Amino acid sequence: MKNILSTFLLSIFICSGLFAQELKSPNGNLTMTFTLLNDGAPTYQLNYKNKQIVKSSKLGLELKNDKKSLLNDFTIADTKTTSFDESWSPVWGEVKTIRNHYNELAITLNQKESNRQIIIRFRLFNDGLGFRYEFPTQKNLTYFVIKEEKTQFAMAGDHTAYWLAGDYDTQEYDYTTSKLSEIRALNAKAVTANLSQKPFSQTGVQTSLMMKSADGIYINLHEAALINYPAMHLNLDDQNMIFQSWLTPDMKGDKGYMQAPSTTPWRTVMVSDDAREILASKMIYNLNEPNKIKETSWIKPTKYVGVWWEMITGKSSWAYTDDYPSVELGKTDFTKAKPNGKHGANTANVKKYIDFAAQHGFDAVLVEGWNIGWEDWYGNSKDYVFDFVTPYPDFNVTEIRDYAKGKGVKMMMHHETSSSVRNYERHLDTAYKFMKANGYDAVKSGYVGDILPRGENHYSQWIINHYQYALEQAAKYKIMVNAHEAVRPTGIARTYPNLLGNESARGTEYQAFGGSKPNHVTILPFTRLQGGPMDYTPGIFEMDISKINPSNNSHVNSTLANQLALYLTMYSPLQMAADLPENYNRFPDAFQFIKDVAVDWDDSKYIEAEPGQYVTVARKAKNTGQWFLGSVNGETVRISTIKLDFLEAGKKYTATIYADAKDAHYKTNPQAYTIRKVVVTNKSKLAQFCAVGGGYAISFVENK
Ligand code: NOJ
Ligand code: CA
Repeated sequence: MKNILSTFLLSIFICSGLFAQELKSPNGNLTMTFTLLNDGAPTYQLNYKNKQIVKSSKLGLELKNDKKSLLNDFTIADTKTTSFDESWSPVWGEVKTIRNHYNELAITLNQKESNRQIIIRFRLFNDGLGFRYEFPTQKNLTYFVIKEEKTQFAMAGDHTAYWLAGDYDTQEYDYTTSKLSEIRALNAKAVTANLSQKPFSQTGVQTSLMMKSADGIYINLHEAALINYPAMHLNLDDQNMIFQSWLTPDMKGDKGYMQAPSTTPWRTVMVSDDAREILASKMIYNLNEPNKIKETSWIKPTKYVGVWWEMITGKSSWAYTDDYPSVELGKTDFTKAKPNGKHGANTANVKKYIDFAAQHGFDAVLVEGWNIGWEDWYGNSKDYVFDFVTPYPDFNVTEIRDYAKGKGVKMMMHHETSSSVRNYERHLDTAYKFMKANGYDAVKSGYVGDILPRGENHYSQWIINHYQYALEQAAKYKIMVNAHEAVRPTGIARTYPNLLGNESARGTEYQAFGGSKPNHVTILPFTRLQGGPMDYTPGIFEMDISKINPSNNSHVNSTLANQLALYLTMYSPLQMAADLPENYNRFPDAFQFIKDVAVDWDDSKYIEAEPGQYVTVARKAKNTGQWFLGSVNGETVRISTIKLDFLEAGKKYTATIYADAKDAHYKTNPQAYTIRKVVVTNKSKLAQFCAVGGGYAISFVENK
């Protein structure tokens, strides 16, 4: 203990009633100082290499119908310091083992007048700070309602931010890059149309929020272990550059219903002067509880194709008929309906995808629009939308089950809830049982449209509890989950690794809905991916969507080589080859990379990174030990100059480099790529041209 005290517990000083205590990160680069102000208000500040990152910032919670709240008049009851250093192996991931190394300070605060106690627990890692509020068992704080959490993050300057407009219902916006002081003016433009949306403030932004200071420090604000609590947004006081937590309310406007003992999620501040370290950080996972699923052999990283892009582009439909303007489950008779002739989920078409998957070595096939109800599935605040077990007349469940089994391909279930969450919970067990009986071990769920119960938001506490319930219940059935439109992940997949993916950001679908910014994929790894993998659904080869559906003029703002690189830069144990089989058949040499690339890794090396500009990462595949590399580029042509020193010394490799051709451009010439083979060693260097919205991908095969 003496040793621990001298290494990171630097000082306790009490002068004119002020209490302060310092905590240092294991490598000493970060210093967190907790201070209790004269009025008994708790505050903290954070320094990195002697630079201010978070200036003195208040901590506390405002309670409903409680004048005193948990904001001030505190005294110190106890302080405890500990140190932790342990490694753990994720069930799937970017690396084989993860080191969880931090110094901790737990401050117990007494509020005299109300005779209540809270603990604020700080964990300082080499890559950042995590802290949370804890409410121990006590007489005077049993049940309480949070009006607002008042956690501040006072920034030390007018940083550059890569931000999404704060919203209670959608995360599917493009990023805006601006100074903090410009957020207010740019907010209206940052809020684009969505089927469910509720922006709340002109300076409200979402987490994970990435920032860069003028002197080159990268700062990321997010949260970890969001359980039984609303998701946190940040609202900026743009006079003083102070962010304050802004929780997602429920339909009554209340924020959190609490019962002691309990805790809030962790609030996280990641810091580095090297952007690559932000990408490599595992702090959010480390702040989550260890894996609670004992037997995990059924959790399998998966590469899949699907009857999907044809609906997203509008070539096919989810609906079976165009004749029913409204549908009532149990009453509407689909056997009498006239098929519209473009229903994607028909047995013959599904079999084609199964054949394609089997031929090219994919693990699974997703099929959407297989179950009745899609004729009128959103927009009418409808309660009973889907039953998740009744197929359309042209989708033969058992025939497809047997066909897929015979070909060694898994089927992937689709549960669009249409945000009728109550309806989904009514059917959940039956739906999961139906899956298991028909050979489905994974479900893609979705929450399009406004939430039912009406008035609830996509990220309020009640719905957070639903996402968690669906996930934990799935684990009981040994089902893997990929939830779309659910809350942005916060590292929960460490505890429940059957959460193989989420969408929870603007995915590839938007490339068929008008397009995303060409540098979108250079920001997502810094933000959305901090909390867990994204089902981004890459692999689009035909960028002119009108070639698929003449009435859709959308353009995919990416080069073909950039699409290949996404299998590396957008880390996920769940990867889709999203384009139509016929488009892959047109480019078999480029498709080879998607067939070859792994989905589970023993090691990852971030080689180049700058938010909004580029990300280059090399990864070593689990089991085979084969290396792959991906690099995505933003809006400026560049030469990526890298060393291949991650390869094993003394070995020779054939590198197959899939790259933008010299005249490639995401808009004007996206399909211009070159493929070349070169022999390399770990001493080799590479200078690779990257087009605007482009990039490159490499597979390395050892020469034996
Ligand atoms: C939105 C999802 O993101 C998309 O992947 C899905 O196809 C549609 N909802 C329909 O469920
Ligand atoms: Ca979506």
